[in-house]
Amino acid sequence: AFLPVLLAGGNGTRLWPLSRTLMPKQFIRLAGTDTMLQQTLCRLDGLSLEKPFIICNEEHRFIVAEQARQAGVETQGILLEPFGRNTAPAVAMVAFEQLTQGNDPLMLVLPSDHRIENVKAFQASVIEAAAAAGQGKLVTFGIVPSHAETGYGYIEAGQPFSASGARAVKRFVEKPDKATAEEFLANGHFFWNSGMFLFRASRYLEELKAARADIYDVCEQAAQNIEREFDFARIPKDIFEACPDESIDYAVMEPTAEAAMVPLDAGWSDLGSWSALWEVEEKDSDNNVKIGDVVAADTRGAYIRAESRLVATIGLEDVVVVETKDAVLVAEKSRVQDVKRLVEQIRGEK
Ligand code: GDD
Ligand code: MG
Repeated sequence: AFLPVLLAGGNGTRLWPLSRTLMPKQFIRLAGTDTMLQQTLCRLDGLSLEKPFIICNEEHRFIVAEQARQAGVETQGILLEPFGRNTAPAVAMVAFEQLTQGNDPLMLVLPSDHRIENVKAFQASVIEAAAAAGQGKLVTFGIVPSHAETGYGYIEAGQPFSASGARAVKRFVEKPDKATAEEFLANGHFFWNSGMFLFRASRYLEELKAARADIYDVCEQAAQNIEREFDFARIPKDIFEACPDESIDYAVMEPTAEAAMVPLDAGWSDLGSWSALWEVEEKDSDNNVKIGDVVAADTRGAYIRAESRLVATIGLEDVVVVETKDAVLVAEKSRVQDVKRLVEQIRGEK
């Protein structure tokens, strides 16, 4: 059996103004009746796994506990970060926490902002990945790309290791520019990095130590000073403060020589931006996604979401309009990756 580790500490900035600091996207019902976190938990149903472990920001502890309870999922524990230091330290903290408890599980690391249509195919890939992870590999799930996306990392796949389907990883390229992404797509040996991983806790820490001893050292020390309260385990602020901010992709998956990739073809998408949501949601005959009280006259290819008022448009094409109580976003659909920068600008000006 292995341990699902849910990463639920991101800000979801690109889905502003719906996704906010107090309620980031993973806790929202974006598409479907469950929140993204709940969908991630429920997707594991049927795999024989240990109770999941969740790592999130301290601010969101009651949201996380309540959403897990509503989904009928009992957690093994919830690890609380005083602030986010990105995914490399988050995964390291869970790994150290497991070793402290005398366990060295295979950890199935799952972001909590993905949509996966074919749960059976997902579960089959997980089982395949477990075999490679059992042999000490750091396994990532590679998605067969459908377009030249610049919002994802890419993996160049090498030869298959065995009959199991796991392949060697030649290299990782995090979020390339458009021209590079187009090259990758045409090449045929590139997959999207799904951001989901499977490896043994001790193997992850060994590779982290080799590549980023600075992160390793801070996390090791923080793990020795965790404060426990009910199901919550709190990472000490004064120690964690010194931790560098780095993603697991840059800190471990890129430098390691022991990466492997299992292909995943399951209708996967990271619901990270408004255009990604437009892609997956049901459209009307004019190719519009309309959510809430929306009237769209002579409007095509738009994503229009009304949370608290009637929203009406005339004569628009390929736009995003997201209305909430206190903020409204109007953007060209091709520019939605820039929402992150916009939000930074708004925060800076306030
Ligand atoms: N606990 C915790 N702490 N979770 C975090 C933190 C943190 O500091 N930072 C991010 N997360 C969580 C987010 O909530 C999300 O579920 C996941 O980790 C990934 O973070 P994102 O911010 O969504 O990353 P991304 O989408 O830009 O990029 C990653 O995922 C892509 C696919 O979805 C990369 O791995 C890309 O290479 C990949 O293609
Ligand atoms: Mg994401």
